[in-house]
Amino acid sequence: MESEHLALVGTDAGAENSFDVEKYVRRSRKVDISDLDLSRTADYPLTADEIRCLTYMMDIEGHTIVYLKSILNTCAIRDPQTTAFLSCWAYKDFFHSYTLRQFLEASGVAVSANRVVEVQEQASWRVWMEQMVASLICQMSKHFHAVYLTWGAISELTTLEGYQVLAGRTRNPLLAEILRRLAKDERQHFSFYYNKARTELQSRNAQRLTKFILQRFWMPVGEGVKPDSEVEWIGHYVLGHTPGREVAERIDQTIARLPGMTWFRGLSETREASLKRRRQTTPAMIAQVAAIESKGA
Ligand SMILES: [Fe+2]
Ligand SMILES: [Fe+2]
Repeated sequence: MESEHLALVGTDAGAENSFDVEKYVRRSRKVDISDLDLSRTADYPLTADEIRCLTYMMDIEGHTIVYLKSILNTCAIRDPQTTAFLSCWAYKDFFHSYTLRQFLEASGVAVSANRVVEVQEQASWRVWMEQMVASLICQMSKHFHAVYLTWGAISELTTLEGYQVLAGRTRNPLLAEILRRLAKDERQHFSFYYNKARTELQSRNAQRLTKFILQRFWMPVGEGVKPDSEVEWIGHYVLGHTPGREVAERIDQTIARLPGMTWFRGLSETREASLKRRRQTTPAMIAQVAAIESKGA
């Protein structure tokens, strides 16, 4: 009976089509890199950009416990499938952060023992406000499930695609392998949120509420937690190159297949806005530097 209660079953195989919560709970393990020889990191030095990017991801994965606290303040706490999934999700993401930290330290990057708290202190008041509003909306509408599930599907798919982009780009074989293992977990996370969001979005009112909230409040992964300059930087680092356009479109198109979400272009719009800002600021900066240089001459 328990497994029937927890199982979410779709018609086809694949992350987009079905997710079995019971199976996920039974098989949940932390990511395991004990077979990788981290003493070999010295053979493959990380680039400064890789260190910056991995630090960002380590921080966001480590912040999952705070996201969990916020989600559990909403109606999510009343859904047994969701609470079963979230328990394993938080555990797995803790080890994502832990693994990235382990890898960074093995590569000679010092990480503060208090890092998780330091990241929490950086989080903006906007995140706190949104948590309050989310828990209030829950009291007013039974359709709020659709909102956080859709939001979660976007975040997990972005993280999954991001890890795959980075794994494909790095020249460090140890890092590539770690990122592929993390991406495998992210695929399961995405599958849960996506399949459950599709069920919740069957209702027209749920679709309307989700559109209303996401159009006003949706933020890319890490925004509100990391400084804006870092969010902008990582968006460009992961998706700013030409193939990144295809990745952003793929994420948007997958989310747009959810009921009532055909309007969604969040990743592409964020990417285009960021590229536009860069095009505007780069010539202005060059002109400023040139002016300073000519004064000095
Ligand atoms: Fe994760
Ligand atoms: Fe995840």
